[in-house]
Amino acid sequence: MTASPPEPRPGPTPAATGHQNLDPHLDRYAARTKGMTASEIRALFAVASRPEVVSLAGGMPNLAALPLESLSTQMAELISEDGLSALQYGSAHGVPALREQICEVMALEGISAHPDDVVVTVGSQMGLDMVTRLFCDPGDTVIAEGPSYVGALGSFAAYQADVVHVAMDDDGLVPAALAEALSQAEKNGKRVKFLYTIPNFHNPAGVTLAIERRGEILEICRRHDVLVVEDNPYGLLGFDNQTYPALRSTDPDNVVYLGSFSKTFASGLRVGWVLAPHAVREKLVLAAESATLCPPTLNQLVVSRYLSTHDWKGQVKTFCENYRERRDAMLSALEQHMPEGCTWTRPDGGFYVWMTVPEGVDTKAMLPRAVTARVAYASGTGFYADGLGSRQMRLSYCYPTPERIREGVRRLAAVLESEMDLVRTFGSVTARKLSGPQAPSPDTE
Ligand SMILES: Cc1ncc(COP(=O)(O)O)c(C=O)c1O
Repeated sequence: MTASPPEPRPGPTPAATGHQNLDPHLDRYAARTKGMTASEIRALFAVASRPEVVSLAGGMPNLAALPLESLSTQMAELISEDGLSALQYGSAHGVPALREQICEVMALEGISAHPDDVVVTVGSQMGLDMVTRLFCDPGDTVIAEGPSYVGALGSFAAYQADVVHVAMDDDGLVPAALAEALSQAEKNGKRVKFLYTIPNFHNPAGVTLAIERRGEILEICRRHDVLVVEDNPYGLLGFDNQTYPALRSTDPDNVVYLGSFSKTFASGLRVGWVLAPHAVREKLVLAAESATLCPPTLNQLVVSRYLSTHDWKGQVKTFCENYRERRDAMLSALEQHMPEGCTWTRPDGGFYVWMTVPEGVDTKAMLPRAVTARVAYASGTGFYADGLGSRQMRLSYCYPTPERIREGVRRLAAVLESEMDLVRTFGSVTARKLSGPQAPSPDTE
């Protein structure tokens, strides 16, 4: 006997409630949608975004320092002076003037590039999607740091690529571990398509790839005939005015570079870019065209005007000062409040601290209790494709004020203390399954 399909019901979508078996379209979805799952934190999002909860979970840039008045004047001028172009379709490649300016931005990290090799995207997330679409067939392998950016893991899952994580330490990706993973993949007959890496101020690990390791990583990838995808949205957000030479700067033929204005200007404009090896550029433009026809012309012109008329480097410096103050607040609060046995990274830039908690504590299981205690974090498992990370959490300091950060860390430490008490009394406190499937989610939560 075949069961009749359930009646469609009004109300929240199945994905929002986690009741996927009520979805009458279930047997229509393409196989690749199996990898598309909602984030763990989304299940708690409604509660976690209440004002009384200090959220150390999301990765939203803090835009409060933007000069809104002069930006609004500029946008009005843009429409009155150039509105018919700004509101028109453009090329899939991106606005030429902006592509030239992007080359100047990348020169700050040692990259010498031709504007023709830059493809403007709707945020670097679109770049990630396109690069995965271009290179990965189902079952191909992508090497990524463990942990890695949730949005990238989401793209890899959507194209049914397998992810092999490689260890990091305080100096970023460990070259010997990368070489070992590549040799192992070869032995197992796996086709590795690229190394996905975030060398600077890593999301979520907060570490930076040591300069001495950069050449070695490139050399290992070349030796194994593996492309490098360098994702660098935080590179200009170093707290001591430091920038690092991009991997792309020394190996233009084997590195696809992803950049973004989301963290250095405004994430809502959704303007990012891909700098591909020359040979790949044409395919990227075709992929971009099939995804969006063209990136929004208006937003590109807003960014272009901003770069040419504002002291944008001064603005980045102001952002960095704000983030550094918040980083300091978080690190000193962690030092003051966290129970013995917790360890964490000490970022020199970017948005994130990665914390490891004592054995027996499961950060995913603990999350609802933390939210009840009015603090939220991102549990570590979302940053791995293979279920690791249950003793880790990502703490973001980018958005809340320093006082809220200190209060959030104090609350979190109290939750951890009582969790550790439970572990001492009853042994390991394992994860209860949160409603809905888990995983990679946008970093806006
Ligand atoms: C490492 C990393 N890559 C890519 C992105 C996506 O950024 P965009 O806003 O440019 O799409 C993010 C956003 O948080 C990120 O942290």
